[in-house]
Amino acid sequence: MSSELPNLTIIDHPLLRHKVSLLRDVSTEKKEFMELVDEIAMLMAYEVTADLETEEYEVETPLEYTRGYRVRGRKLTLIPILRAGLGMVEGVMRLLPTMRVGHIGLQREHETLQPVDYYFKIPPHAQERQFIVTDPMLATGGSASAAIAFLKNSGALSIRLMCIVAAPEGVRKLLHDHPDVPVFTASLDRELNEHGYILPGLGDAGDRLFGTL
Ligand code: PRP
Ligand code: URA
Repeated sequence: MSSELPNLTIIDHPLLRHKVSLLRDVSTEKKEFMELVDEIAMLMAYEVTADLETEEYEVETPLEYTRGYRVRGRKLTLIPILRAGLGMVEGVMRLLPTMRVGHIGLQREHETLQPVDYYFKIPPHAQERQFIVTDPMLATGGSASAAIAFLKNSGALSIRLMCIVAAPEGVRKLLHDHPDVPVFTASLDRELNEHGYILPGLGDAGDRLFGTL
């Protein structure tokens, strides 16, 4: 975390650096791109959930009884921002298979870069849940900020954002709009270009994931 961006945690691990570099590569095809997003999401989930509460219980080993721990994760809820956030769902759920999943559909308008919402469906009792919002790209921050605002309007009190590549502009917008929301990324890139794409970035994550280039 830098002092300028106190909301940001950069998860820096050799495996993530390796996989994010492959993801950036223009010659990486759709199948491998999807697999990489999935693997990166799984690796990141380990860190993003590092402060999860556990509760004690008694475990019987083949030799004796001992203290065991289980994650109090029943109310953990994953929220992919459609479409590209979908690519991160399975990776996270491999570690946390009982998570509920809600969906928020947002499409960034090409001219204005403003997010337009088209879908919202989350599990009930938002105020009791811990939300992890996934989207591979945090560019202007418009989509993530809007998604988080929708969750808060539904009563959400605990939200964290998990992206793969973030631009400083987007992290700053989230700090301004939602200072209570921690942001986790595998890479903090340099800047946005005039079309709102992250540099060096990896291009359009949704198009590369779903082959709609
Ligand atoms: C991309 C990306 C984010 C958003 C980031 O989605 O997956 O949701 O742009 O940009 P922002 O931070 O400036 O809002 P897009 O709107 O292209 O939709 P898609 O996932 O359906 O491709
Ligand atoms: N959305 C993407 O998919 N890529 C970017 O670089 C910016 C927004």
